[in-house]
Amino acid sequence: MNSAFLTFDKSKNQNPAKTTIMHFRSRIILLISVMLFFSFLLISQPGCKNYNEVDLYPPCDTTNATYSDDILPIVSGNCLPCHITANYASSGIALDNVDSARIPARNGLLLKAVTHDPSVPPMPKGGSKLSDCDIARIQRWINLGEPAK
Ligand code: HEC
Repeated sequence: MNSAFLTFDKSKNQNPAKTTIMHFRSRIILLISVMLFFSFLLISQPGCKNYNEVDLYPPCDTTNATYSDDILPIVSGNCLPCHITANYASSGIALDNVDSARIPARNGLLLKAVTHDPSVPPMPKGGSKLSDCDIARIQRWINLGEPAK
């Protein structure tokens, strides 16, 4: 007798059903190993470990806003090219010293200009809007009563 049943050789592992299961299982194992490997790579990145949201986006510190520490650095780059004492062409607004800067701070024009309130020309003229943090610091400075230092 030479039937398929009798010539079946277990050692060669020819059972098709069993072979399929073996393939399926080894694929799963391979997949899991690959996933573990990449998660390990991701976790072990030494360069990335120290980054967190606080480092990438430092929080906006508005606890203490003074003209010399906060406002002058903001306006010197963004506004002073036009709003210096000598240049009254820019609506007579000077921002290069605390006394002059207090005038638009108190009459509301400063905040309206930087927040792009539609009732005043948006500032900085020809430039991009100040960052939310800079606007928050200006707002805070006004709320504190425009301290000089
Ligand atoms: C390129 C020049 C230029 C820059 C930079 C600039 N301004 Fe002005 N600003 C002007 C001019 C000119 C006016 C007069 C109104 C106009 O012509 O738009 C003015 C008007 C103003 C006014 C009065 C608005 C009104 O209704 O009378 C305020 C407040 C002001 N600027 C604040 C600022 C602040 C704050 C910055 C910086 C964040 C700034 N400006 C940057 C040119 C400038």
